Amino acid sequence: MVTLRMKGIILSGGSGTRLRPLTRVTSKQLLPIYNRPMIYYPLNTLIKAGIKEILIIIAPEKAGEYLNLLGSGKEFGVKFTYEIQDKPKGLSEAFIIGEKFLDDGDDVVMILGDNIFEEDLSKQIASFTKGARIFAKEVHDPERFGVVEFDKTGKVISIEEKPKKPKSNFAITGMYIFDSRAVSFAKKLKPSKRNELEITDLIKCYIKSKELDVSIIKKEWIDAGTFDSLARANRLAQEKLHKNLII
Ligand code: TTP
Repeated sequence: MVTLRMKGIILSGGSGTRLRPLTRVTSKQLLPIYNRPMIYYPLNTLIKAGIKEILIIIAPEKAGEYLNLLGSGKEFGVKFTYEIQDKPKGLSEAFIIGEKFLDDGDDVVMILGDNIFEEDLSKQIASFTKGARIFAKEVHDPERFGVVEFDKTGKVISIEEKPKKPKSNFAITGMYIFDSRAVSFAKKLKPSKRNELEITDLIKCYIKSKELDVSIIKKEWIDAGTFDSLARANRLAQEKLHKNLII
Protein backbone atom coordinates (compact mmCIF):
# COMPACT_ATOMS: atom_id res chain seq x y z
CA MET A 1 0.00 0.00 0.00
CA VAL A 2 1.25 3.50 -0.82
CA THR A 3 1.86 6.13 1.84
CA LEU A 4 0.59 9.55 0.91
CA ARG A 5 1.91 12.90 2.05
CA MET A 6 -1.62 13.75 3.04
CA LYS A 7 -3.28 13.74 6.40
CA GLY A 8 -6.81 12.68 7.25
CA ILE A 9 -9.51 14.11 9.49
CA ILE A 10 -12.65 12.28 10.57
CA LEU A 11 -15.18 14.72 11.93
CA SER A 12 -17.20 12.69 14.38
CA GLY A 13 -18.89 15.11 16.76
CA GLY A 14 -22.38 16.55 16.35
CA SER A 15 -25.51 15.79 18.34
CA GLY A 16 -27.27 13.10 16.30
CA THR A 17 -30.71 14.40 17.28
CA ARG A 18 -32.41 12.72 14.33
CA LEU A 19 -31.32 9.30 15.57
CA ARG A 20 -32.65 9.62 19.12
CA PRO A 21 -33.10 7.46 21.19
CA LEU A 22 -30.26 5.44 19.57
CA THR A 23 -27.84 8.31 20.12
CA ARG A 24 -28.69 8.33 23.82
CA VAL A 25 -26.83 5.00 23.96
CA THR A 26 -23.71 6.24 22.24
CA SER A 27 -22.42 8.63 19.61
CA LYS A 28 -24.03 8.29 16.16
CA GLN A 29 -20.71 7.33 14.56
CA LEU A 30 -20.22 4.43 17.01
CA LEU A 31 -23.58 2.83 16.27
CA PRO A 32 -23.35 -0.57 14.57
CA ILE A 33 -23.49 -0.83 10.80
CA TYR A 34 -23.72 -4.60 10.21
CA ASN A 35 -20.49 -5.92 11.81
CA ARG A 36 -18.56 -2.70 12.49
CA PRO A 37 -19.11 0.60 14.32
CA MET A 38 -20.07 3.27 11.77
CA ILE A 39 -16.75 5.16 11.98
CA TYR A 40 -14.88 2.10 10.66
CA TYR A 41 -16.30 2.76 7.18
CA PRO A 42 -14.81 6.25 6.68
CA LEU A 43 -11.65 4.98 8.41
CA ASN A 44 -11.42 2.21 5.81
CA THR A 45 -11.73 4.80 3.04
CA LEU A 46 -8.77 6.76 4.45
CA ILE A 47 -6.54 3.85 5.42
CA LYS A 48 -7.07 2.10 2.05
CA ALA A 49 -5.93 5.31 0.35
CA GLY A 50 -2.62 5.11 2.23
CA ILE A 51 -3.24 7.83 4.82
CA LYS A 52 -1.22 7.19 7.96
CA GLU A 53 -2.00 10.16 10.23
CA ILE A 54 -5.62 10.68 11.14
CA LEU A 55 -7.16 13.27 13.43
CA ILE A 56 -10.46 12.19 14.97
CA ILE A 57 -12.58 15.09 16.20
CA ILE A 58 -15.17 14.10 18.80
CA ALA A 59 -17.69 15.57 21.23
CA PRO A 60 -16.42 15.81 24.86
CA GLU A 61 -19.00 13.50 26.44
CA LYS A 62 -18.10 10.61 24.08
CA ALA A 63 -14.31 10.93 24.09
CA GLY A 64 -13.68 7.92 26.36
CA GLU A 65 -15.69 5.60 24.13
CA TYR A 66 -13.63 6.55 21.07
CA LEU A 67 -10.34 6.04 22.90
CA ASN A 68 -11.46 2.64 24.18
CA LEU A 69 -12.52 1.53 20.74
CA LEU A 70 -9.79 2.93 18.51
CA GLY A 71 -6.75 3.56 20.72
CA SER A 72 -3.55 4.81 19.18
CA GLY A 73 -4.14 3.38 15.71
CA LYS A 74 -1.10 1.10 15.96
CA GLU A 75 -3.32 -1.95 15.57
CA PHE A 76 -4.32 -0.63 12.14
CA GLY A 77 -0.85 0.54 11.10
CA VAL A 78 -1.72 4.23 11.45
CA LYS A 79 -1.53 7.01 14.04
CA PHE A 80 -4.65 8.53 15.54
CA THR A 81 -4.72 11.96 17.16
CA TYR A 82 -7.81 13.12 19.03
CA GLU A 83 -9.27 16.58 19.51
CA ILE A 84 -12.47 17.71 21.17
CA GLN A 85 -15.10 19.91 19.55
CA ASP A 86 -16.92 21.51 22.50
CA LYS A 87 -20.06 22.31 20.51
CA PRO A 88 -21.12 21.47 16.95
CA LYS A 89 -20.15 24.84 15.49
CA GLY A 90 -19.87 23.68 11.92
CA LEU A 91 -17.80 21.47 9.63
CA SER A 92 -15.22 24.14 8.81
CA GLU A 93 -14.30 24.41 12.49
CA ALA A 94 -12.47 21.08 11.99
CA PHE A 95 -9.64 22.98 10.30
CA ILE A 96 -9.32 25.43 13.18
CA ILE A 97 -9.38 22.62 15.75
CA GLY A 98 -6.89 20.77 13.53
CA GLU A 99 -4.45 23.67 13.13
CA LYS A 100 -1.70 22.04 15.19
CA PHE A 101 -2.21 18.65 13.52
CA LEU A 102 -1.88 20.32 10.11
CA ASP A 103 1.02 22.64 10.95
CA ASP A 104 3.54 21.14 8.53
CA GLY A 105 1.62 22.26 5.45
CA ASP A 106 0.37 18.86 4.29
CA ASP A 107 -2.79 18.44 2.24
CA VAL A 108 -5.75 17.06 4.13
CA VAL A 109 -8.75 14.90 3.34
CA MET A 110 -11.72 15.20 5.66
CA ILE A 111 -14.58 12.69 5.88
CA LEU A 112 -17.63 13.00 8.08
CA GLY A 113 -17.89 10.09 10.50
CA ASP A 114 -21.37 9.16 9.27
CA ASN A 115 -20.59 9.11 5.54
CA ILE A 116 -20.23 5.71 3.92
CA PHE A 117 -18.75 5.25 0.46
CA GLU A 118 -19.03 1.96 -1.40
CA GLU A 119 -16.33 2.97 -3.88
CA ASP A 120 -12.59 2.68 -3.34
CA LEU A 121 -11.61 6.37 -3.63
CA SER A 122 -7.85 5.83 -3.32
CA LYS A 123 -7.06 7.05 -6.85
CA GLN A 124 -9.13 10.20 -6.52
CA ILE A 125 -7.38 10.95 -3.23
CA ALA A 126 -3.86 10.15 -4.49
CA SER A 127 -4.20 12.23 -7.66
CA PHE A 128 -4.93 15.46 -5.76
CA THR A 129 -2.23 18.07 -6.32
CA LYS A 130 -3.44 21.49 -5.16
CA GLY A 131 -6.42 23.67 -4.38
CA ALA A 132 -9.47 21.72 -3.30
CA ARG A 133 -11.44 18.70 -4.46
CA ILE A 134 -14.99 17.79 -3.51
CA PHE A 135 -16.88 14.58 -4.22
CA ALA A 136 -20.33 14.75 -5.78
CA LYS A 137 -23.03 12.14 -6.34
CA GLU A 138 -25.95 12.34 -8.76
CA VAL A 139 -29.20 12.18 -6.79
CA HIS A 140 -32.95 12.48 -7.47
CA ASP A 141 -33.54 15.08 -4.75
CA PRO A 142 -30.66 17.58 -4.98
CA GLU A 143 -32.67 20.29 -3.17
CA ARG A 144 -31.98 18.41 0.11
CA PHE A 145 -28.20 18.85 -0.21
CA GLY A 146 -25.41 21.24 -1.10
CA VAL A 147 -25.53 21.25 -4.92
CA VAL A 148 -22.57 21.70 -7.25
CA GLU A 149 -22.60 22.99 -10.83
CA PHE A 150 -19.49 22.27 -12.92
CA ASP A 151 -18.17 22.45 -16.50
CA LYS A 152 -16.99 19.62 -18.78
CA THR A 153 -13.48 19.67 -17.33
CA GLY A 154 -14.77 19.22 -13.77
CA LYS A 155 -14.07 22.83 -12.76
CA VAL A 156 -16.74 24.08 -10.41
CA ILE A 157 -18.91 27.03 -11.46
CA SER A 158 -21.15 27.34 -8.39
CA ILE A 159 -22.26 25.66 -5.20
CA GLU A 160 -25.48 26.31 -3.35
CA GLU A 161 -26.75 25.04 0.00
CA LYS A 162 -30.18 23.33 -0.31
CA PRO A 163 -31.35 25.39 -3.34
CA LYS A 164 -35.06 25.55 -4.26
CA LYS A 165 -34.12 25.37 -7.97
CA PRO A 166 -30.95 23.24 -8.17
CA LYS A 167 -28.62 23.99 -11.11
CA SER A 168 -27.60 20.32 -11.31
CA ASN A 169 -28.49 16.94 -9.82
CA PHE A 170 -25.12 16.57 -8.12
CA ALA A 171 -25.08 16.60 -4.30
CA ILE A 172 -21.88 17.39 -2.40
CA THR A 173 -20.94 14.39 -0.25
CA GLY A 174 -19.19 14.45 3.13
CA MET A 175 -15.65 14.11 1.86
CA TYR A 176 -13.37 17.02 0.98
CA ILE A 177 -9.71 17.47 0.12
CA PHE A 178 -7.97 20.79 0.75
CA ASP A 179 -4.43 22.05 0.54
CA SER A 180 -2.88 23.61 3.64
CA ARG A 181 -4.56 26.98 3.08
CA ALA A 182 -7.81 25.52 4.49
CA VAL A 183 -6.70 26.45 8.02
CA SER A 184 -6.22 30.14 7.28
CA PHE A 185 -9.38 30.29 5.14
CA ALA A 186 -11.41 28.63 7.93
CA LYS A 187 -10.14 31.14 10.49
CA LYS A 188 -11.53 34.01 8.40
CA LEU A 189 -15.04 32.56 8.01
CA LYS A 190 -18.02 34.14 9.74
CA PRO A 191 -20.77 31.96 11.28
CA SER A 192 -23.86 31.51 9.10
CA LYS A 193 -27.47 32.28 10.06
CA ARG A 194 -27.64 28.91 11.82
CA ASN A 195 -24.48 29.95 13.69
CA GLU A 196 -22.14 27.42 12.05
CA LEU A 197 -18.87 27.75 10.15
CA GLU A 198 -20.19 26.27 6.91
CA ILE A 199 -18.14 23.95 4.72
CA THR A 200 -19.73 25.56 1.65
CA ASP A 201 -18.19 28.91 2.66
CA LEU A 202 -14.75 27.30 2.93
CA ILE A 203 -15.20 25.63 -0.46
CA LYS A 204 -16.18 28.99 -1.96
CA CYS A 205 -12.74 30.38 -1.03
CA TYR A 206 -11.30 27.94 -3.60
CA ILE A 207 -13.93 28.61 -6.27
CA LYS A 208 -12.86 32.26 -6.32
CA SER A 209 -9.37 31.30 -7.45
CA LYS A 210 -10.70 28.53 -9.78
CA GLU A 211 -8.86 25.92 -7.75
CA LEU A 212 -11.77 23.65 -6.92
CA ASP A 213 -12.49 20.50 -8.89
CA VAL A 214 -15.09 17.82 -8.47
CA SER A 215 -14.77 14.07 -8.57
CA ILE A 216 -17.91 12.04 -9.26
CA ILE A 217 -18.97 9.20 -7.00
CA LYS A 218 -20.39 6.39 -9.14
CA LYS A 219 -21.22 3.72 -6.58
CA GLU A 220 -23.38 4.10 -3.51
CA TRP A 221 -22.93 6.91 -0.97
CA ILE A 222 -24.89 7.01 2.26
CA ASP A 223 -25.09 9.78 4.85
CA ALA A 224 -26.25 7.53 7.69
CA GLY A 225 -27.86 10.26 9.79
CA THR A 226 -31.51 9.15 9.63
CA PHE A 227 -33.29 5.89 10.49
CA ASP A 228 -33.92 5.06 6.84
CA SER A 229 -30.37 5.79 5.68
CA LEU A 230 -29.01 3.85 8.68
CA ALA A 231 -31.08 0.85 7.60
CA ARG A 232 -29.82 1.23 4.01
CA ALA A 233 -26.24 1.41 5.28
CA ASN A 234 -26.73 -1.85 7.18
CA ARG A 235 -27.99 -3.58 4.03
CA LEU A 236 -25.14 -2.20 1.90
CA ALA A 237 -22.56 -3.31 4.47
CA GLN A 238 -24.07 -6.78 4.76
CA GLU A 239 -24.42 -7.32 1.01
CA LYS A 240 -21.24 -5.68 -0.29
CA LEU A 241 -18.99 -3.60 1.94
CA HIS A 242 -17.94 -6.12 4.58
CA LYS A 243 -15.99 -8.15 2.00
CA ASN A 244 -13.71 -5.24 1.17
CA LEU A 245 -12.98 -3.83 4.62
CA ILE A 246 -9.34 -3.78 5.67
CA ILE A 247 -9.96 -2.88 9.32
P1 TTP B 1 -25.22 16.43 10.86
O1 TTP B 1 -25.77 15.09 10.51
O2 TTP B 1 -25.64 17.56 10.02
O3 TTP B 1 -25.54 16.77 12.38
P2 TTP B 1 -25.64 15.81 13.62
O4 TTP B 1 -24.70 14.66 13.52
O5 TTP B 1 -25.49 16.67 14.84
O6 TTP B 1 -27.08 15.16 13.54
P3 TTP B 1 -28.55 15.78 13.73
O7 TTP B 1 -28.76 16.74 12.60
O8 TTP B 1 -29.44 14.55 13.63
O9 TTP B 1 -28.62 16.41 15.09
O10 TTP B 1 -23.63 16.38 10.84
C1 TTP B 1 -22.96 15.74 9.81
C2 TTP B 1 -21.72 15.08 10.34
O11 TTP B 1 -20.79 16.04 10.78
C3 TTP B 1 -21.93 14.15 11.51
O12 TTP B 1 -21.01 13.07 11.36
C4 TTP B 1 -21.58 14.98 12.71
C5 TTP B 1 -20.52 15.91 12.17
N1 TTP B 1 -20.47 17.26 12.74
C6 TTP B 1 -19.49 17.56 13.67
O13 TTP B 1 -18.69 16.69 14.07
N2 TTP B 1 -19.40 18.84 14.12
C7 TTP B 1 -20.23 19.83 13.71
O14 TTP B 1 -20.07 20.98 14.16
C8 TTP B 1 -21.28 19.48 12.78
C9 TTP B 1 -22.22 20.54 12.30
C10 TTP B 1 -21.34 18.20 12.33
